Amino acid sequence: MNAAQEISPVNSSPRRPVDSLDTPVRVSPEGPAPVVAAEPPKLTVKNLDAWYGSNHALHGVNLTVPPRSVMAAIGPSGCGKSTFLRCLNRMHELIPGARAEGTLLIDGQDLLSRDVDPVTLRRRVGMVFQRPNPFPTMSIRDNVAAGLKLNGIPGNHHEIVERTLRQSALWDEVKDRLDASALSLSGGQQQRLCIARALAVQPEVLLMDEPASALDPIATAKIEDLIHELKERYTIVIVTHNMQQAGRVSDQTAFFYMGDLIEVGPTEKIFTNPSEKRTEDYVTGKFG
Ligand SMILES: Nc1ncnc2c1ncn2[C@@H]1O[C@H](COP(=O)(O)OP(=O)(O)O)[C@@H](O)[C@H]1O
Ligand SMILES: [Mg+2]
Repeated sequence: MNAAQEISPVNSSPRRPVDSLDTPVRVSPEGPAPVVAAEPPKLTVKNLDAWYGSNHALHGVNLTVPPRSVMAAIGPSGCGKSTFLRCLNRMHELIPGARAEGTLLIDGQDLLSRDVDPVTLRRRVGMVFQRPNPFPTMSIRDNVAAGLKLNGIPGNHHEIVERTLRQSALWDEVKDRLDASALSLSGGQQQRLCIARALAVQPEVLLMDEPASALDPIATAKIEDLIHELKERYTIVIVTHNMQQAGRVSDQTAFFYMGDLIEVGPTEKIFTNPSEKRTEDYVTGKFG
């Protein structure tokens, strides 16, 4: 199935359809808007290389992600999108034989530095995976609270569980059965539960690796709406193989191909006027 045949959720939300991305910018009659100093990036990636043994999977990736924005990583299967994401919270180094080199800054702080405890880092940079992976033996409530206990986070865990379930748009569906097994939820609910679990420890950055690819169109639309809401507070990097989804949810898009970051820029530019021929061929479906 190609991207064009995939989901086309009802467009009832602020999600932007790809074909309306090139709306002209209106110039105000009062003259140009005041210049606002650009905020420093939340994430800065410099010369990032990653290997699995001798397989050089990422080659010198450079990009920045502004705070409270969504970056989509797109590209054909095997091009390094998941590897890139796992480098951002140092899960890459957990794979036997895998290593990464380069500079990764969060608010200017070097994440790859030996002084940074990877567990603390993973609290600041949360991750949601392709397949919902709730802890199967735990209740809905305990799944959300799991990270709070693991990290020894004080406070009223009942309140935090309710707040994060509301934030992940699941509360109304589960409030009467918080002690039921997480596995009693549908796939889409399980994925929102995993998002709640990631949010409970109050991360700053949320990484999502094809979070909707195992879900039906309605559940996918809910996740996309949620991403829109979450970006008011969080910086999000999402891998998706679905280009319409990238167009709907992201501010910037990064196109990866065979371990290279070919091009990164505003999503509307990547989809309507990319600088690189390979980007154009990919987004117009010439290969993939
Ligand atoms: N756990 C792993 N062990 C060894 N090689 C891996 C592993 N994960 C990915 N790779 C290799 O790294 C490259 C990039 O893969 P990946 O990041 O999973 O791509 P994508 O997410 O874009 O499909 C591929 O050549 C893949 O075979
Ligand atoms: Mg992947």
